[in-house]
Amino acid sequence: MKEKIKVAVIGCGNIANSAHIPAYMASDIAEIKYFCDIIPERADAAVEKYGCGKAVYDYHEILDDADLDAVSVCTHNDMHSVISIDFMRHGKDVLCEKPAARILSEALEMEKVSYETGRILSIGVCNRYANSVNHIRKLIADGELGDVYHVYASFRAHRSIPGLGGDFTTKACSGGGALIDWGVHYIDLILYCLGDPKVLTASGEAFCKLGKDMKNYVYESMWAEDTKNTETGTYDVDDSVVGLVRTDGAVVSFNGAWAQNIGERETYIDFMGDKGGVRLDYCGNFRFWTTKNGMLTETIPAYKTNDMHRSEVLDFVECVAKGERNRNDIKYAVGTSKILQAIYDSSEAHAEIKIEN
Ligand SMILES: NC(=O)c1ccc[n+]([C@@H]2O[C@H](COP(=O)([O-])OP(=O)(O)OC[C@H]3O[C@@H](n4cnc5c(N)ncnc54)[C@H](O)[C@@H]3O)[C@@H](O)[C@H]2O)c1
Repeated sequence: MKEKIKVAVIGCGNIANSAHIPAYMASDIAEIKYFCDIIPERADAAVEKYGCGKAVYDYHEILDDADLDAVSVCTHNDMHSVISIDFMRHGKDVLCEKPAARILSEALEMEKVSYETGRILSIGVCNRYANSVNHIRKLIADGELGDVYHVYASFRAHRSIPGLGGDFTTKACSGGGALIDWGVHYIDLILYCLGDPKVLTASGEAFCKLGKDMKNYVYESMWAEDTKNTETGTYDVDDSVVGLVRTDGAVVSFNGAWAQNIGERETYIDFMGDKGGVRLDYCGNFRFWTTKNGMLTETIPAYKTNDMHRSEVLDFVECVAKGERNRNDIKYAVGTSKILQAIYDSSEAHAEIKIEN
């Protein structure tokens, strides 16, 4: 087991500053050696703010540093596969943000290189580290819900399209909209809780509606506002999506949207079993319903909550030190990626898609 892990953070934007960097700073064994961003001020600002590391503006400069053990890839989706593969080919372990990639073929290539080179490739599907999620996973594994036959996810907002006309809404950069940006977390969380079942088919429709006329899109506030480009930008992604996925166990269905005319935000997952059911408020707590001695019961469990991002990054560091893959391994992300791709393909073909395992 290595005693010190030297890391580089590639892309010093939002998720790097809110999750990856603070977690590395909190680790006893990680040391940030480089902050890299193509916007020099962002790399410089990180060095200044965290009081460690060196600023670099082109990640190629540090690929050959034999002293570097691992990297966090916190760039936009279009660079996830390229940067992750480059670092793995240069002997570094990688924690890459979600979604693994824009399209399935990129995710498959990432998996191939990870297993060819023997480098760890973890994907930032952080819900796998939330205590609430792990309690639900255990309840299901212990049979407390009985036969879980249907899981329904709702991840819908009234007006929450990010950076209209920017990277988020440009398919060539992001790979898609609400499904790939939000849906990836929900689908991964569900598969994880179900014990990663074999996925058989997927069917869905993805809609590009409310933001399409960018100049007339009405909203109160917009996340990623700084990347908005309604003059010359592109809007060609799904702002809402509906889907149905068949597995060799439960059926999974969902309704998701960055923007829908529903007047509220609704984010939860219902796990429905023949013995009991659970509703998880996304990134929150859960309730558990069952019956006992002829009575209906509701359990509002109390348990220790945690910062899932921090737990994820700290586990990555530990796994790099031990040379072990973890629960966020690329092989699981490929499973989710197959579903995302199948939903988009299904929407184009207006037909159900069979998923190859
Ligand atoms: N796990 C989560 O819950 C979560 C939350 C937010 C974002 N994300 C993911 O994190 C990624 C980044 O999102 P963000 O909101 O932090 O974006 P951001 O725009 O705030 O940050 C991305 C940074 O990457 C830099 N960058 C782009 N290309 C680069 C390159 N070739 N080399 C070095 N730096 C480069 C940009 O200049 C920018 O500073 C996205 O893939 C997003 O899906 C995940």
